[in-house]
Amino acid sequence: MRITHGWQDIFALCALLVLAGCGDSPDNGEREHTRAIMQEIFAGLRVALPASADVATFGDPAKRETITAALGLLTRNASTLERHARSKDAQLGFLARSIASDAREIERAYTAGRYARSAYLLQQTVEHCIACHTRLPVLADSEVTAEFVEDGVFQDMPAEARSSLLIATRRFDAALALLEQELVDPMHHIATLLGPLTDYLVVSIRVKGDYARPRPVLARIAAREDAWSQLKLDIEGWLAALPELERLAVREPSVATARALVEEGDRLDAFPGDMSSRLHLIAASAVLERLIDAHDENDAALGEAYYLLGVVEASIGRNYWVTPAPFLLAESVRIAPHAPTAAQAYALLERELLQSYEGSEHEELPPEDREHLDSLQQLMQGS
Ligand code: HEC
Repeated sequence: MRITHGWQDIFALCALLVLAGCGDSPDNGEREHTRAIMQEIFAGLRVALPASADVATFGDPAKRETITAALGLLTRNASTLERHARSKDAQLGFLARSIASDAREIERAYTAGRYARSAYLLQQTVEHCIACHTRLPVLADSEVTAEFVEDGVFQDMPAEARSSLLIATRRFDAALALLEQELVDPMHHIATLLGPLTDYLVVSIRVKGDYARPRPVLARIAAREDAWSQLKLDIEGWLAALPELERLAVREPSVATARALVEEGDRLDAFPGDMSSRLHLIAASAVLERLIDAHDENDAALGEAYYLLGVVEASIGRNYWVTPAPFLLAESVRIAPHAPTAAQAYALLERELLQSYEGSEHEELPPEDREHLDSLQQLMQGS
């Protein structure tokens, strides 16, 4: 059996068992190990990421030794994370593999003198930090990363980029404060702030479990002069739904709860891609992430959880190119290939993959994607 708990559970457990020596429990050792890896990953990023903001600086021969060492630190520790995550849930494993393979490619490109590519990939891989760090409830911000985003080259970056970096480095409270300023700033049209608004709700609800904090901010957004009537209606709907969403999300996570939330969200949207369902989908993702983290068996319930999370991520995910949605959908098929959700997951995955090539010079799916789909088909048809 896989013995993992949400971090919040571990805290609760420690509070109860503190006299019984919880400090020596395997979970605590495990947690310390993850944190040690993370601190090294951050130590690499702390040097390499600011330098990557300007390709000339990144490729400067005088800096090469320092940056090479930082990228080496990143690769070695991301590879350790990849090995370490093998015994964990499939989504965690996927995110760990993704960052490890990115780190190797970043280092390879740098060594080959392809500084622009290396810098670009380094900035992109921050999405994996965000995806992993926003999965589960977190009690407190990291102390290790304090002032990283506030100091140096990041100071002059747009607020949206800074808030992303704050989330990536687990400065959630600082990210929420910055996003709150940004979302009510009349200098930026609200239409350009829908991504930050989703980030804000994800961090408030999924990470901090705080359903009260967004209330005044949402009310101020709805009162903005540039808010259009449907957005005002959506926000009114969110405000009215918050208490019920909180009630459902704090319960023991179940697939039935998540399914009900996703179905209710579908009913709210008049058109695909509408924002009306956003809060229901975020609450559903909070339920699903906790369920996937705690679920030990590869059964139909887990298959459906991956399917639902794939559907939700395809809708609320931050970034198309590094979204875990295709992985989640494929994993749903692999876990329960004969469950009814497998056919739905397959259909959505196929559509997502085909649409990702729309408008490119590829008329058909590249062979690796075709093979990937065929292997899932075989699983579904096998006995
Ligand atoms: C596969 C999942 C995963 C990925 C990817 C990931 N992290 Fe983490 N990280 C964690 C977990 C889990 C913790 C929390 C450990 C704890 O405190 O319980 C953590 C904690 C941290 C901490 C806090 C350490 C401390 O002692 O306060 C930092 C800093 C950090 N990560 C940086 C990063 C950065 C930067 C990236 C991207 C380059 C990244 N992580 C990518 C899972 C991940």
